[in-house]
Amino acid sequence: MAKGLLFDLDGVIVDTAGYHYIAWKKLANEIGIQFDEEFNQSLKGISRIESLERILVHGNKQDSFTHEDKQKLAETKNSYYLELLNNITPNDILPGVLHIIECAKKENIPCAIASASQNAPAIVKKLGIADYFKAIVDPKTLKKGKPDPEIFLKAAELIHVPPHMCIGFEDAIAGIQSLKKAGIYAIGVIAEGPLPEADLQVHSLTEIDMNIILK
Ligand code: G6P
Ligand code: MG
Repeated sequence: MAKGLLFDLDGVIVDTAGYHYIAWKKLANEIGIQFDEEFNQSLKGISRIESLERILVHGNKQDSFTHEDKQKLAETKNSYYLELLNNITPNDILPGVLHIIECAKKENIPCAIASASQNAPAIVKKLGIADYFKAIVDPKTLKKGKPDPEIFLKAAELIHVPPHMCIGFEDAIAGIQSLKKAGIYAIGVIAEGPLPEADLQVHSLTEIDMNIILK
């Protein structure tokens, strides 16, 4: 039985993964780099600045920008992303999420958000579900991002539940790897390709049987 639930945000709780893709593509086009959905998979779960580095390497432009240029490019991408976020409302919560967090609340099972996104607190607030989460990991406090286990270990620590008694929900390959290295049961939410390293793969969180998770 799970004593704590740890959630990635983008692509698990809300479909902002597509917005990240649109915003990165817009920025990449401006600096003459093209990339497709397949490459975008490798950006999921990866911090803003690391995503930019990967895009620059992909476009063979890793040596074309100074540190300051890169900071500005990352800020520009975030401004595009924030524009897109203006549109989100509680209707954008992905199917199955509310049922899970409501069940967890009734059973006194604490939930936490473990997302690389610095926008996570604002998004959760916008979705009207902030009260369901006992903790949101601040990615700025971490030494390493996903696939390192640090973020999920931190989330478990913040809700005072040992990692092996938690269940984690992730849509990114890097996120599943992070969960597994942390010793946490990993549920993979499939968007495009499969997530073979997950303990359980679902296409939607509506497939989750809370009786099995909580009892
Ligand atoms: C999540 C997303 C990534 C994104 C990262 C940082 O992990 O899956 O695509 O790059 O958060 O998001 P931020 O909102 O801080 O730019
Ligand atoms: Mg995600």
